[in-house]
Amino acid sequence: MTDLHSLERDLLAQVEAASDEAALEAVRVAALGKKGSVSDLLKTLGSMTPDERRERGPLINGLRDAVQAAIAGRRDVLASAALDARLQAERVDVSLPVREAPETRGRIHPISQVIEEITAIFADMGFSVAEGPDIETDYLNFTALNFPEGHPAREMHDTFFLAPDANGERKVLRTHTSPVQIRTMTTKAPPIRIVIPGRTYRHDSDQTHTPMFHQVEGLVIDSHANIAHMKWVLEEFCKAFFEVDQVKMRFRPSFFPFTEPSAEVDIQCSRKGGEIRFGEGEDWLEILGCGMVHPNVLRNCGLDPDKVQGFAWGMGIDRIAMLKYGMPDLRPFFEADVRWLTHYGFRPLDIPALVSGLTS
Ligand code: DAH
Repeated sequence: MTDLHSLERDLLAQVEAASDEAALEAVRVAALGKKGSVSDLLKTLGSMTPDERRERGPLINGLRDAVQAAIAGRRDVLASAALDARLQAERVDVSLPVREAPETRGRIHPISQVIEEITAIFADMGFSVAEGPDIETDYLNFTALNFPEGHPAREMHDTFFLAPDANGERKVLRTHTSPVQIRTMTTKAPPIRIVIPGRTYRHDSDQTHTPMFHQVEGLVIDSHANIAHMKWVLEEFCKAFFEVDQVKMRFRPSFFPFTEPSAEVDIQCSRKGGEIRFGEGEDWLEILGCGMVHPNVLRNCGLDPDKVQGFAWGMGIDRIAMLKYGMPDLRPFFEADVRWLTHYGFRPLDIPALVSGLTS
């Protein structure tokens, strides 16, 4: 009798002490396996007298049931402890910061941003945007704009010429956005109010020149557009673009084949401490060329200079972007260096608009 009790106590203690499923299995085999201690006791039942069996049978079976139940119970405890340990080990903190999404990490190139700023300003004044191809005919880039054949002004532009085509015609990479003036005036009737941002090309390369650069052109044609209107438009543009309340401008007589009279425009600035500020100071900085559209250009577009007139201007986008955002060298604009873009680029959702402030 006592041996069964002490065996049970002993086995239950072993079950309780099993620290993992393998140890528990070893205890089970030692008690309930083929040669286990409880199995050996069960085998003795066969050789007992019926009276002995009646007395010992329930005790031995009871011992087996108790050990089996203890093992099952312990197995549940160990299995759930193992699961807890695994959950703990494989835990993922979903609140940890993850890599930024492309739309927050990506940057808008300063040129794209400045083009958006410029078009937002002119759109507010009632201008629409016009565009044209980078590869132009010699006629639209020069001749229609009143550059006479062989005129030295053609050389001024350091033009990239393409190889002659089957008809012997040599196309050019447009040297300015001005050919889009011609494209517009030959396809649309006045009144015309357009701005033309785009890529332009000249054979030139140093700290402030790259063979490909950007210009924005403006054109106004109607029955009475005059120099006073032009000055107002350019002044309003400069105040809005450089975000100053007032700016002094200086119109210096100049020459362009496609305008008469022509002027180059300087704006007032100060350069104290190597930093340029607009709307103050005694220095001048040249920012654009402009003038009244030459009667020959109007005629070349089928317009009658006695009925319509207008003004135009052109300026370098890259240069005013450098001035506004304090970038010292133009060349990295076109080197596609992500470090430069991360530093000077703009957040994609900072879309320039006059109502929300041009630059926020
Ligand atoms: N096309 C000129 C250039 O590239 C810039 C320019 C000057 C454009 C005067 C104009 C203008 O429309 O009226 O140097």
